[in-house]
Amino acid sequence: MADPLTILTVVGARPQFIKAAVVSRLAADQDGINEILLHTGQHYDDNMSSTFFEELSIPTPDHHLGIGSGRHGAQTGSMLAGIEEVILEEKPDWVLVYGDTNSTIAGALAAAKLHVPVAHVEAGMRSFNRLMPEELNRVLTDHVATLNLTSTDAATSNLKAEGIDGEGVIQVGDVMYDAARFYSNRMDDPSSLLSDLGVEPGGFILATVHRAENTDAPTRLASIIEALEQLGKEHRIVLPLHPRTRSALEQAGSLARLEAAVILREPMGYLDMIVLEREAALVVTDSGGVQKEAFFQETPCVTLRDETEWVELVESGWNTIVPPTDPASIVDSVLGAIGTSGEAIRPYGDGDAAIRILDALAGTRGGVLA
Ligand code: UD1
Ligand code: UDP
Repeated sequence: MADPLTILTVVGARPQFIKAAVVSRLAADQDGINEILLHTGQHYDDNMSSTFFEELSIPTPDHHLGIGSGRHGAQTGSMLAGIEEVILEEKPDWVLVYGDTNSTIAGALAAAKLHVPVAHVEAGMRSFNRLMPEELNRVLTDHVATLNLTSTDAATSNLKAEGIDGEGVIQVGDVMYDAARFYSNRMDDPSSLLSDLGVEPGGFILATVHRAENTDAPTRLASIIEALEQLGKEHRIVLPLHPRTRSALEQAGSLARLEAAVILREPMGYLDMIVLEREAALVVTDSGGVQKEAFFQETPCVTLRDETEWVELVESGWNTIVPPTDPASIVDSVLGAIGTSGEAIRPYGDGDAAIRILDALAGTRGGVLA
């Protein structure tokens, strides 16, 4: 029997745990695949990391670098050095990276420099805004990857426009769609979550804010707080708070104001988030993943950004982009979007992205899964 295909998966931040969960679960069932999991430690609070490993049954990482927070260069550099050691020790056939965080680029660059093939899930996403750290991470990762695994038509054509096409690009669909399908309805008692929060199905807005361009820009952060305060007078708003945003609000002295206007909570588990996304009247967010999940749950979304990578949701009417520079325009967009829905579209594949990802990796060995 041939040696198993060894895949070193690099994760580090919350959305990567959710994306990797569905692929790792399938990989564990395949005799021909040996997955080694590396956690960079980029996210480390229990409610940003271990919660997801527990509730999504992700195997304990084989390697945990414990890098933690830091400026971009220091954080990414420490990851690069740590991941390189692990690649040299484990000698994987592939390094598999997800999304657009500093853990993504560190994994990709460490592997590419050691001539180990890199597979990038969620390749080709573009905001065309190079001020976003994520945009730099995406572009660089795609350009060193051997295999770019895309979620959407837009992503595949973005890569083509940059000269990346042919056998190295496979449109597999979106793993977050697989995750939403697999984990929906796995909550034992969704109604107790809503009653604990004191909200009714369809009777609240779900909000998340964490993107650097909003937390680190005082006027944008102030606009968001002001808009949530105004909306909070008429609507219940549930806001699970990312630690980055908590610390920005503390520094701005605005945490108490927000706490008085909304139902403020610690970051939630994924299963709770799916329920809230499904039961909310509207989602308002600057998260990439939450925009898509609102659509999966057929809930309208307002995105607090200047642009989005998930353009099909805007074109089809499921998502409205509002640059958070003016509280009144945020309030108007939210009130205008409640009760609406978009066109029936299926841009994220058939919910089999995870198996297609493993097939693509195994295909390099003549198809272990075939
Ligand atoms: C990172 C990603 C972003 C992604 C987000 C998902 C980069 C450049 N950014 O942003 O693309 O959308 O994760 O959530 O990789 N912190 C804690 N505890 C934690 C983690 C973070 O307190 O467990 C605080 C620290 O103050 C830290 C700050 O959050 O400095 C930012 O964390 P970091 O991982 O650098 O970036 P995110 O904003 O989480
Ligand atoms: N999420 C979660 N708990 C929260 C907020 C988000 O489980 O309190 C999940 C969310 O459902 C989605 C993912 O985290 O699956 C999105 O991650 P995040 O918003 O941190 O990052 P992004 O997608 O913007 O990179």
